[in-house]
Amino acid sequence: MKTIRFAIIGCGLMGKEFASAAARWCHLPDMRVRQVVVAVCDTNECMFTWFRDNFSHIKQYTTDYREILSNETVDAVYCPVPHNLHERLYCDTISAGKHLMGEKPFGIDRPANEAILEVMKANPDVFVRCSSEFPFIPAVQRLCGMIEREEFGDLIEVNSGFMHSSDLDTTKPINWKRMIASNGEYGCLGDLGMHACHVPFRAGWSPKNVRAILSDLVPERPDGKGGIVPCETWDNATLFCETVNPVDGKTFPWTMKTQRIAPGEKDTWYLEVIGMKKCARYSSKNTNAIEILDYTLSREQAWQRIDMGHETAFKSITGGIFEFGFSDSILQMWAAFLYELVEGKPLKKFAGCVTPDETALSHRLFTAALQSQREKTTVPVE
Ligand SMILES: NC(=O)c1ccc[n+]([C@@H]2O[C@H](COP(=O)([O-])OP(=O)(O)OC[C@H]3O[C@@H](n4cnc5c(N)ncnc54)[C@H](O)[C@@H]3O)[C@@H](O)[C@H]2O)c1
Repeated sequence: MKTIRFAIIGCGLMGKEFASAAARWCHLPDMRVRQVVVAVCDTNECMFTWFRDNFSHIKQYTTDYREILSNETVDAVYCPVPHNLHERLYCDTISAGKHLMGEKPFGIDRPANEAILEVMKANPDVFVRCSSEFPFIPAVQRLCGMIEREEFGDLIEVNSGFMHSSDLDTTKPINWKRMIASNGEYGCLGDLGMHACHVPFRAGWSPKNVRAILSDLVPERPDGKGGIVPCETWDNATLFCETVNPVDGKTFPWTMKTQRIAPGEKDTWYLEVIGMKKCARYSSKNTNAIEILDYTLSREQAWQRIDMGHETAFKSITGGIFEFGFSDSILQMWAAFLYELVEGKPLKKFAGCVTPDETALSHRLFTAALQSQREKTTVPVE
């Protein structure tokens, strides 16, 4: 069993999710590679307490990420930090020869993303991917298999999105994810967009142009210290894209929504593919189920609802009938990262983490969306 020694730079929400996933690697009996977290870094030392309480194998705790990069026992780095830090930390990590799992949006804006990809070119032996766990949900894997086998026929339309309502509470104090300086001009697109793009991009569905409508529904928020400050980031985004299907070169409409203010939605990711032969839809509201309409079986307009259980890309010890959850998708995503790092290719087309080229396409799309909002017109994605 090969071991990859990891460091985490950024010990917040996602840093902890990774450490926890690494700790239950025994869930994946077929993996020929495992990971162990040996070092962590955060500028806020309070974040270390949970790691010290739970992991005896972490040897290095530091507030300076450069000490992680000069640690020769570290093979790879997971770096979930605010978006304004992606460019510097990701470029430095790659230049130090450490494999990198970055976070979306993989650069606060398009120039930052391009700078990261430039450094990658100069370091071709470093394996770099971006996190996105939703395609690993069993129902989504099933849907992706249908895409791969071209079962949908001519595409009529595709809808994907990620919606939550944590910002519906206007008294919620501002944080870095609501400030342009740290979150970026993309706002909700930078935060949530990759979740809605990963499967369409992997399918090769390439947006030619976009008409975007972005909403700033809550223009100011409490600063948490008794004052009120501007809240400049876009809360909600709807993107309407003319999209090319590489299978037949025809175009179809892809509508993508990312919303932080979507009443009734706690944390809903969805994907719907409507084709001439078959249709399929998934929503994390009913995470165990996929709905399929097969027009070739009977001529009825009948949706079939299939319970998925634990039909995962990477074999798990969990019984096949048991439901799948968020932390399971994180574990599967990490299996995909490690598998591709060691084997040189993903287990299958849709069981791979987001590639740097896919992040570049997301930046081209989101940058065009900002222009579309400004100019109130359709903008080419180039
Ligand atoms: N894949 C997902 O589902 C998912 C979910 C949430 C967030 N994210 C992404 O993960 C990244 C981090 O988000 P989060 O929710 O974990 O944020 P967070 O605020 O919970 O954690 C970020 C951590 O980074 C630390 N930090 C800041 N500057 C640092 C520096 N210079 N060196 C080391 N540590 C530093 C902060 O102290 C904090 O502990 C973002 O890119 C975000 O978009 C991904």
